[in-house]
Amino acid sequence: MNIIKTQNYEEMSKRAADIIAAQIILKSNSVLGLATGSSPEGLYSELIKKFNSNEISFKNIQTFNLDEYKGLAPDHDQSYRFFMNEHLFNHVDILPENTYIPDGLKSDADSECSKYENLIDSVGGIDIQLLGLGLNGHVGFNEPDTSFVLNTHCVELTASTLEANSRFFDNDIKKMPHYAYTMGIGTIMKAKKILLIVSGSKKAEILYKSLTGPITPQVPASILQLHKDVVVVADEAALKYFN
Ligand code: GLP
Repeated sequence: MNIIKTQNYEEMSKRAADIIAAQIILKSNSVLGLATGSSPEGLYSELIKKFNSNEISFKNIQTFNLDEYKGLAPDHDQSYRFFMNEHLFNHVDILPENTYIPDGLKSDADSECSKYENLIDSVGGIDIQLLGLGLNGHVGFNEPDTSFVLNTHCVELTASTLEANSRFFDNDIKKMPHYAYTMGIGTIMKAKKILLIVSGSKKAEILYKSLTGPITPQVPASILQLHKDVVVVADEAALKYFN
């Protein structure tokens, strides 16, 4: 595991964008696994800058997002489809039909999830998977559990995640979806390379636990210790427990 320490969020975003850009330059038809949340916003802005200065093109890129809230329409301003359009897709030359996100409106969870998993396999798998880290150690929406769930599946969000994400829903848990579709731990681990970005002291303890503690489904990100190609780009505050 390669850990890159940056001074702050801005530098983390730049370094992580360099890694994604390098992937795109090396393989112009890469399959990117993407994430939402506050962590990747800066990275996406940096990628847009690189696109605008002709360093990279998304013309032949395909993307698969980690997760989506169940029950939110793509045009709901808190859906992850909306987030991706706003923060990246609308600003670069990616073909909309090459961007995949689970469909939150499909009520048949099993069929939507297995369709998504098969689609990822059918394009040859993900070249680089971007991940943020939840306060409880979740990746995507893989919440702490008694076992690792392998494939794309429907998950009930935990109280910790509902509370953390309620800031986007007028701080009202009642206004939020309580279920989501997410790539599974196996889906994530199948990616050829993983890029984990973490910022801020609030994440320091869970980051330390994830990377140095026991590998357990109670800390979903701890499974990353077993992946052969993980790059962590994190700022000083998030890495404060590392020497
Ligand atoms: C959300 C998402 C995750 C994200 C995480 C951290 O619930 N499902 O994919 O990585 O929480 O979010 P943030 O980057 O805003 O701290």
